[in-house]
Formats: sequence, structure tokens, C-alpha cells
Amino acid sequence: MSADHKIHLLITGATGYIGGAVLQLLLDRPDAHRFSITALVRDETKAKKLAGLGIETVVGSFAGDTLVHLAAASHVVLHTANADDLHAANSILKGLKQRHAQTGAVPIFVHTSGTGVLTDKAAGDHDTDVIYDDANVDQIESLPTTQAHRNVDLQVVAADKEGYVRTFIVLPSTIYGLATGTLVDLGISNPHSQQIPGAIKASIDRGQGGMVGEGKNVWPHVHINEQADMFRIVLEAALTDVNTPHGREGFYFGENGEYRLYDVAKTYTQVLYDLGKSKTPEPTTFTEEETLKYFGGSYLGTNSRARGSRARLLGWKPVKTTDDLLASIRPEVEAIIAQQKGD
Ligand SMILES: NC(=O)c1ccc[n+]([C@@H]2O[C@H](COP(=O)([O-])OP(=O)(O)OC[C@H]3O[C@@H](n4cnc5c(N)ncnc54)[C@H](OP(=O)(O)O)[C@@H]3O)[C@@H](O)[C@H]2O)c1
Repeated sequence: MSADHKIHLLITGATGYIGGAVLQLLLDRPDAHRFSITALVRDETKAKKLAGLGIETVVGSFAGDTLVHLAAASHVVLHTANADDLHAANSILKGLKQRHAQTGAVPIFVHTSGTGVLTDKAAGDHDTDVIYDDANVDQIESLPTTQAHRNVDLQVVAADKEGYVRTFIVLPSTIYGLATGTLVDLGISNPHSQQIPGAIKASIDRGQGGMVGEGKNVWPHVHINEQADMFRIVLEAALTDVNTPHGREGFYFGENGEYRLYDVAKTYTQVLYDLGKSKTPEPTTFTEEETLKYFGGSYLGTNSRARGSRARLLGWKPVKTTDDLLASIRPEVEAIIAQQKGD
């Protein structure tokens, strides 16, 4: 540790849904003083607000060498901003490598990926029996390099293998629920997830609840607060025990149950119908054109089935169920409609 005995932690994505929730959790903990936190943010106003909460802030983006310098000054990097930005991940690794060369210490990199890495091409037409377990290293390593997020994940694992960094890859599934806390209240972080809110917004835009294909595909889910807690538990384990699975063993799926896409689509379509935003209470299939326009492809029609064994072995105990996921949809729809009205 540094002369001030604090753990220097760099966080990316603090203004985002995941990063904001994780940062909020770290700030709310009684041992928050253990960390000296630096956040790289793009928005000057949000940076000022974060500074008011005791966070060191640097205004900037991933372009150039900013991340290299910031990572070189950190014991831990918590990268929640973008699962697919290879330049950002490589910049962080470069900085951590410099740190190792200068101090001989082995820093910690917690990277955010996603269970999108497990997806198939079901297009909503069927489910699958293929279930990936994060404790099954051979199964994870059988994933083709062409899968989503995989190119970045493999760089991260390769860095761990070199020995200058211990890497931990957290792979959330469908995160749901409105994020809450001071960061949201102050307008610093984004309270909305991506997948379900994206489908709701597309449905509002076309005036009819939609789904990809028949919505027969299946995904895992995790509540935002429980996902944030999983990041904290992985980080804590990484800090306290060098034997915490890392590198090729360091994949941590965030899931606590599964849902069929139809069931979620049916739920938001009913709510949209009740609120006068959907022609019928039954979801209809997005046309190919709509799927491209709203989602850039049929991502919402894929299967992704995962078992998160690793974090549970570290003591993670999520309790939210698929009923909680379905119950989160009405407040999500209402918040999106209020946001669109400018309330
Ligand atoms: N939400 C989910 O259910 C989920 C599940 C699995 C994986 N993921 C992945 O996790 C990542 C984060 O997701 P999220 O839901 O938290 O997204 P989000 O709410 O959109 O947050 C993204 C964060 O990254 C920051 N960021 C993006 N590009 C940046 C850049 N070039 N320089 C500096 N900061 C940058 C954003 O800053 P600004 O505020 O300035 O835009 C924001 O703080 C994504 O890659 C996503 O695909 C998400």
C-alpha cells in the first residue's frame, strides 16, 4: 500500500448504471475510508459533484494515454465503463504493467464483461440446454473468440498469465431495477439498465410492445444492488486473498435466476397498454428492420444461460427472484415515460 496506507482505486464508468451502483455501495460502507478513489469522468459538472463526495476526479475520456497514467498510480482498477473497448482495457493493462515494473507489486484489475459472451443465434425461436458454469474453465475456454466481449476478455486473461496483474472478470447478465442512492439523486449516475429499458423504449416508439421472434429464448438476470454487491465481494476477496480465482479461473457470472424473454415482453406490453402506450396488451414480433434500428441486431432474441458458482463460493448471497424482475418492470416503464415527458 502507499505511504498514506489507503488503497488507491481507479473507477471508470462512475456516471453509469453499473459503475454508479458499485461506487455508491463502496461509499456507503463503514470501511469506505480504506479507499482513495479516483474516477475518470467525461462530464465536468458531474466531476464537480463527485468531488463534493470526496472522490478524486479526472475529466477526460479513454482517448490517448490518460488511462495509462491513472492505472499506473492505482492498486486497483475497477473498469465498469465499456466491456468492448479494447483500447481502454489495453491502456489500463499498460498502466498496471508500469506500476508492477516500478513497485514490484501485483495490482488488481476488475474488468466488466457480460453474459452476452454466451449468446447463440436463436432469434427468439427457441431456448437451449447449453448452460455455462463460471467454475468450468474448460467450458469457458471453449467459447469462440468471435463471441461478444471475448476479444477484450482474452487480452485481460493473457495479462494475468504474464504475471504483472491479477485479473477478475465480472460478467453481469440482464441487470434490472432502478439504481438508487446519492449518486442518482444528485444526477451523477444513470439509474437505468440497458436491455429491458431498451426494449421498453423501442416499444413506446412503435406504439406497440415488441419482442424478437416469439420470445422463446432465455437469459439470466440479476438485480442492480446484488450485482454491485458481487463486484464488492470479488474486490474484497481479491484484496484479502491472493488465491482468489483470477486470470483464466477469474470469470464471475452475475446471475440469480432466469427468465424467458416473452414473459418480460408480455409484462411491459401489458403495462404500456394500461398506460395507453401500446395498441394491444400482447407483444408482437419486431420486424427485421425494427430489430436493426432499435438494437443493431437480434441480440434480444439470443439465449444466454449461466450459473454463477464462483462469486457464491466467495460468499455472495443474492436473494432476488424472477418475480422481483417482473415486479421491477412497471416502475421502470413509469420512470421511462416520466423521463420522456421531462418530469
Ligand atoms: N446494464 C446491463 O445489464 C449490463 C449487463 C452486462 C454487461 N453490461 C456492460 O457493462 C458496461 C457498462 O454498462 P452500464 O449499463 O453501466 O452502461 P451505462 O449506464 O451507459 O454507463 C457507461 C459508463 O461508461 C462511461 N463511458 C463510456 N465510454 C466512455 C469513454 N470513452 N470515456 C469515459 N467514460 C466512458 C459513461 O460515461 P458518460 O456518463 O460520460 O456517458 C458511463 O459512466 C457496458 O459495456 C455494458 O455492455 C451491462
